[in-house]
Amino acid sequence: MQPLSVLIVGVGGLGKCMVQEALDRGLRVSVLVRDRAKLEAELAEEILARLSKTKVGDGTHAKVLDEVMPGSDVVLSGRGADLDLARELATAVKRNDIKKLCWPGGTTNVMADDGVTPNYKRLLHLGSWVEGAYRAHGACIDAIRQADINYVIFCPGRMDSAGRRSPDVRRSVRINRDAGPFVSYEDAAWVMLEAATTNTYDGQLVSAATKF
Ligand SMILES: NC(=O)c1ccc[n+]([C@@H]2O[C@H](COP(=O)([O-])OP(=O)(O)OC[C@H]3O[C@@H](n4cnc5c(N)ncnc54)[C@H](OP(=O)(O)O)[C@@H]3O)[C@@H](O)[C@H]2O)c1
Repeated sequence: MQPLSVLIVGVGGLGKCMVQEALDRGLRVSVLVRDRAKLEAELAEEILARLSKTKVGDGTHAKVLDEVMPGSDVVLSGRGADLDLARELATAVKRNDIKKLCWPGGTTNVMADDGVTPNYKRLLHLGSWVEGAYRAHGACIDAIRQADINYVIFCPGRMDSAGRRSPDVRRSVRINRDAGPFVSYEDAAWVMLEAATTNTYDGQLVSAATKF
């Protein structure tokens, strides 16, 4: 059987780790980026050589998406809080009969521990950005749901590179609950690829946290 084919849209901090995680899992990996030179500066030559397809274009352009998506099983976005991108990716996933869209949201958009309080309400003391983030991520989540596709929304706290994946990231994953304020790009990429390759988190908002 052919390995699963994933398309990663946007190769920034999270996207770069998703490329590595997907290759480590033996998947076929394509990327869509706006700037080839940036991609080549970010990824080692050995990684670039293992990509099935590198498409340069904007993920908010339907024509670009219809050129790059065929042949992919799952699409993972390396960019969130972008309503145009959410709408375009979701509708293109539907049009191109892709199995699933995995999308990064924010920890503002899961529930707090009690399962009743929206988590952003618990975080409002951190600043006015909290409500803005909640609304921006929420608009994307709504657009994805309205597209009537299979999806997983990953809702991290702050992300940054830790240089390696935690051995126990699976144990930190929570469904529609806040897992903690920080998750490494490496652990976040593990969750996104786990969401892409299994049906464990289909239709859910999930979070995870890295603890040192
Ligand atoms: N980092 C955090 O602490 C954090 C926390 C919670 C949630 N998030 C969410 O997670 C997402 C990923 O985080 P990150 O830190 O990896 O972000 P990042 O480093 O800024 O990466 C985003 C990538 O998306 C690409 N991109 C943007 N618009 C695009 C488009 N229209 N078509 C194709 N590619 C596009 C950017 O490419 P260019 O180089 O061309 O601009 C960039 O490489 C964020 O967008 C955010 O919504 C992040």
